[in-house]
Amino acid sequence: MAHAELHHDRPPSISVTRRQSILFVTSEIADYVKAGGLGEVSAALPRALRHHYDVRILIPGYRQVLSQIGSVEEIARLPASFGIPACGLGRGMTKDGLTVYVLLCPELYERDGSPYVDPFGVDWSDNDIRFARLGLAAADIACGNGDPLWRADLLHLNDWPSGLGAAYLAWRGEHIPTILTIHNLAYQGIFERDRLSSLGIPDAAFHINGVEFYGKLSFLKAGIFYASHITTVSSTYAQEITRPEFGCGLDGLLRTRARQGRLDGIINGIDPSWDPAKDPYLVSRFSAENFRGKRANANNVRRSFGLDLSNGPLFAVVSRLVHQKGVDLAISAAETIVSQGGQIAVIGQGEPRFEAELHALAQRHPGSVGVKIGYDEGDARRMYAGSDFLLMPSRFEPCGLSQMYAQRFGSLPIAHKTGGLADTIEDGVNGFLFGAPCVHRFTDAIRRGLETFRSRQRLSAMRRAAMNRPHGWDRSASKYRQVYERACQTAAYV
Ligand code: ADP
Ligand code: GLC
Repeated sequence: MAHAELHHDRPPSISVTRRQSILFVTSEIADYVKAGGLGEVSAALPRALRHHYDVRILIPGYRQVLSQIGSVEEIARLPASFGIPACGLGRGMTKDGLTVYVLLCPELYERDGSPYVDPFGVDWSDNDIRFARLGLAAADIACGNGDPLWRADLLHLNDWPSGLGAAYLAWRGEHIPTILTIHNLAYQGIFERDRLSSLGIPDAAFHINGVEFYGKLSFLKAGIFYASHITTVSSTYAQEITRPEFGCGLDGLLRTRARQGRLDGIINGIDPSWDPAKDPYLVSRFSAENFRGKRANANNVRRSFGLDLSNGPLFAVVSRLVHQKGVDLAISAAETIVSQGGQIAVIGQGEPRFEAELHALAQRHPGSVGVKIGYDEGDARRMYAGSDFLLMPSRFEPCGLSQMYAQRFGSLPIAHKTGGLADTIEDGVNGFLFGAPCVHRFTDAIRRGLETFRSRQRLSAMRRAAMNRPHGWDRSASKYRQVYERACQTAAYV
């Protein structure tokens, strides 16, 4: 289907008196449940936009959501469709008054585990139905078939779990503008072809110009194909994903979207709770003017990770333990750090092989390498605050929030020059970048960090530069507003 066919003939201005209504569709939000950066962005971006729009969130009613959101009123029933079960549409509110639509469907969502995987880390076998339910509800609410009192002027979808939302609208001939933000192209929601009819996907859409991806069905491709506009979370990643090395098989379609002016990179911000002068998790608070308080946090991290007391440099790793993050590179570089008197504290969880290798590393270097397998926000915050350097050798990184948190807390990121890392770190100014994801280049950058550590004056200047780097959401939010406006105008005129 050609792009132009997706557009409609609404009047250019939807309303001059009413704020535009945006439905922000997400599979995680840090208020209640998060698996990674998407949860944090979903909590922050709608809040950065709420002064300009009537922004509402749509999220599945996982156990973690229902147990924390407080009262949820069921305002509608959404009917079953093909193999997608009926569900209730609940309306609740965050503590600060953002409206949240919650999908009430216990058989799909009320389980122990994360939004995507069971307690053993295995993908839920019905993820196609679980997230088709989300996409279909998004389309219904957008059209006014959900909340009888509300419909959306624009649908903002995030990652593969909501990708089908744009497609369901297109198949109904609805021309509501849709934005799809890609937070990570590597997760695509790929399912077998025989799932099409259960998900209500027309046979004709199983096509290269549609949802088909190498003989299978891809939710993310559906989103990219049918959305009016695509954004991703940094300018560099927006360019990278149009190339085969980073395009995960979708680079051809993304190149087309870029040529059409329908692909933009907008860097994430970080929310104001990341303030070392106020953070209640820290042992001692500090600021860019006076960061002596970092030392107490460093000593706390040393103690809690079983490291020796030391005046040497402290390196932190706060990461999902997956191939993307270059955990193997960090493990290989550890010898360089330890041999120069440095220490490393690692917190993370993920692939069992990396967890085992990290445990082995800590055993080889008692007192110098400390590892916690798990997820703990307090530890993470104290590590950003206490460390001198953050290791982030990601092979690719759409945006990355950890490096920005580290900078804000005066820890200099040492990172591969890719995606959002390239866009947020200025080499030798507020962190260190290296050009290729290999141990050799990485250890060169680590050596530059160690040299800087030996010059107190340089270290202080770089720390200050990192802490003072503007990290807020304002600039990014205004770029999203431009994209929203463009999408609405295109929809109105084409
Ligand atoms: P991604 O979403 O790809 O994992 P980001 O850098 O965008 O990467 O976001 C990761 C977020 O998760 C950061 O807020 C980071 O502090 C946090 N995080 C990752 N691992 C842990 C952990 N083991 N404990 C606490 N926080 C973690
Ligand atoms: C994804 C990406 C990460 C990004 C986050 C939020 O998890 O891996 O780079 O910061 O989404 O957009």
